Parts: sequence; structure tokens; C-alpha cells
Amino acid sequence: MRKQIVAGNWKMNNDLEASKSLVKKIVKGLKKEKLKNTRVIVAPTFVSLAKVANKAKGTKVEVAAQNMHFEKSGAFTGEVSAEMLKSVGVKIVILGHSERREYFGETDAMLAKKVDAALANNMEIIFCFGEVLEERKANKHFDVVESQIRNGLFHLEASAWDSIILAYEPVWAIGTGETASPEQAQEMHAFIRKIVADEFNDDIAENVSILYGGSVNPGNAKEIFSKEDVDGGLIGGAALNAENFITLAKSF
Ligand code: 13P
Repeated sequence: MRKQIVAGNWKMNNDLEASKSLVKKIVKGLKKEKLKNTRVIVAPTFVSLAKVANKAKGTKVEVAAQNMHFEKSGAFTGEVSAEMLKSVGVKIVILGHSERREYFGETDAMLAKKVDAALANNMEIIFCFGEVLEERKANKHFDVVESQIRNGLFHLEASAWDSIILAYEPVWAIGTGETASPEQAQEMHAFIRKIVADEFNDDIAENVSILYGGSVNPGNAKEIFSKEDVDGGLIGGAALNAENFITLAKSF
């Protein structure tokens, strides 16, 4: 049975003290909760990763990085490798976020290399993709999403899919307060599951978790997460508040 997942992408928010305090509150708030078949993940900035991973160790909260480089080490100023993430206890990485694609020039080809590097290090990947508003208006959203998934992930062996979590994040819904409707999310998620089934097999498609991201909050999560092919959320703004995030983790 595929897992339900709530993942908080903290983006460029929270210094070390704020990150420690936030993870502490989340760990505490979830301690007594019975989270059936649900994983809870937080993704702080690189500077806080080691400390947050340490605080989350042995709890219900898992820790992810927001990005990584595909090389092991070397002259890549400002970058961090999979090996380095693992050295601080981080085994999950978000790749392909639209903000990385848009502001930092990450291409499908770079992302395919990052995916390979993460997998070579036995890391799990939350792989993000999604269309911009113009593409949706032009009815190109299915093509855009398919090509991002195809170029980033379809070169993989079937066995690699155990380590993949998909995250559909329509760019027009990120940080805008405007979510995709539950029907729009379901329609896209069902499409994604179908292309994975067609390229690989039904078993992989059935077992891969597909998260929705874009202005999810405690007020709209239940309805979105109730859709058959929506297995949880990748949360930005609402993940910065412990109470909201805990409510989201309990929204299934
Ligand atoms: P918001 O929840 O702030 O819209 O951000 C979504 C997102 O980009 C998560 O990665």
C-alpha cells in the first residue's frame, strides 16, 4: 500500500534557532499521534540540516534537503553533495522544485543527473514538476508535466522507483493562495499514475506516492488529500507553523 506523506519545504526560511524550535514543536506535537501509514518530512535549509536531523532522530519526523549537486566533491562553490547530506543523517532530497528550475536554471538534464547521484547514494527523492499558468491556459499542462517526468525519471530502472516520491506543484498555485481544485489535482495525479504505468508497470504506478503542492493549508488539505490519487502534500507556507503543519499531518 502506498504511503501518505506530508512534507514541509521550509524554503529559505528559519535560521538555526528557529529551525530547531520548529522541529522540536513538530516532534512533540506528533509524539502521541497515531499516524497510520503516514510519513512526515521536513526540509530545512542546509545550515540547519545537521541539527534538525539530530533532533528528529528516532522520532516520527524525517528530514530532507531542499537540493543537492550531482558531483561527489570538487570545485563547485556553494554546492552540497549527496555524500555530505548523508554524513549529517539526511537520506531524502527534494529535486526539481520549480523555484530551482526558474531562479537557478536547473534543467531536466541536470535533474536527471541529480536523480542518479541521489539514487547511487541510496537516497530517496521527492521529485517536483508542474506547469506555469500560461501552459495551463494553453491546455499544455499534461504535456509539460509528462515531459518533466519523462526527462527526469524515465531513464531509471524499475527497481529505482522504490526511492521516488512524486510531487505535482502547479507553479501558479505556489505561494499564491490559489490552490488547484481537488478535481484538478486528481485529474493530473491520475494522469501521472497512468504514464508511469504505461512506461513501467501497474505495480510501480500503484505504489508511488504522488503529492500535491501549492497553497495547501489546514483549511483545504482534507478535501485535496481525500482524492484517490493524491497521497499527501508538499507544503510551503503552512509548514512554517508547527500547529498548522501538525494539523496537515493529521488530515488523512
Ligand atoms: P506553498 O505551500 O507556500 O504554496 O508552497 C508550495 C511549495 O512550493 C512546496 O514546495
